[in-house]
Amino acid sequence: MGWNSWNWFAGKVTDADIRKAADLLVSSGMRDAGYVYVNIDDTWQGKRDANGVIQANEKFPDMKALADYVHSKGLKIGIYSSPGPQTCARYEGSLGHEEQDAKTYAEWGMDYLKYDLCSFGKNMKEEHPNDPDAQNKMMRDAYVKMHNAILKAGRPMVFSLCQYGFDQSWQWAPEVGGNLWRTTDDIRANYDSMILIGLSQAGLSKFAGPGHWNDPDMLEVGNGKMTHEENISHMTMWSMLAAPLIAGNNFTEMNDDVRSILTNKEVIAIDQDMLGKQGDRVWAGEETEIWSRPLADGSVALAIFNLSHDRNVMRGLRLHLKEAGFPSGTAHARDLWTHKDLGVIKDTNVFTMQRHGAVLLKLTK
Ligand code: GLA
Repeated sequence: MGWNSWNWFAGKVTDADIRKAADLLVSSGMRDAGYVYVNIDDTWQGKRDANGVIQANEKFPDMKALADYVHSKGLKIGIYSSPGPQTCARYEGSLGHEEQDAKTYAEWGMDYLKYDLCSFGKNMKEEHPNDPDAQNKMMRDAYVKMHNAILKAGRPMVFSLCQYGFDQSWQWAPEVGGNLWRTTDDIRANYDSMILIGLSQAGLSKFAGPGHWNDPDMLEVGNGKMTHEENISHMTMWSMLAAPLIAGNNFTEMNDDVRSILTNKEVIAIDQDMLGKQGDRVWAGEETEIWSRPLADGSVALAIFNLSHDRNVMRGLRLHLKEAGFPSGTAHARDLWTHKDLGVIKDTNVFTMQRHGAVLLKLTK
């Protein structure tokens, strides 16, 4: 869990923005809710010196001092690069300098590296035209190379693979050292983008587990024009998916509603459940989906998503409690967004949801 600069600041991010984000993570209660990584995304890179050592650009005058500052707040710090010659925003990549870069990140005090394929895709195609298998091998090798470089640098770093889910990343990313791997293209700050990504994660639960996670991309809660209900759906879905919760909003403008959605402890507890078992789809109707997730204490998280663009009441919905592990068709339920115990619910219980809304329940026998 943490925060990343890209979804809000994109190419404009500066040292001051990162320090401010760290300050606000603490004062807003986000850190204490679990958001501990402060990740600098693309556009921090400057040129290499005569020995090939990467320098930060003028927006980041002293990376070591910045890392020290973030650490002094009880937080961790992350950085970003690409296996290619250039990053996606066309800044300097790590190709040919992997060990040197990992060493530099370690010296600066970095705790996390997001490694984004970007221009390396072009190299793969040029070296192995029309040979997807050879291209895939080249990509895996590039990730292994940086993984080994991090190990050699001797500072523990979370290794985050970003290659947009190409070649079914979940099948091989753990083998190349990935702690998390993107499963999709970039998220956008709107409901359609978010929910399309969320629903497309169905079937991927078996590939995730403690230390290696599917990453449906960073949160857009608090960005764009997403409504309260849409932000609830976003956070509900990411928690069902055991997804990394990397906030991407501008804390300087965070309102209470957004803060309370991001810091809902009962919802975060689902995301961070120690069993580490990702949830999956139980049932899909035209305008409704039901997902479930087994939890460490033997209970089950059940999420109901209202995908409808205009209706606000779900009629005739069966909760599919049997399919979610409750053969009796009844369960004790707690609503994790309203923080209310609902007592015993039946399969036929009806929930009222606004358009694009969601309900998240914790069910026990
Ligand atoms: C890609 C990634 C994004 C972000 C940008 C930065 O698009 O998927 O998450 O890191 O690059 O350029």
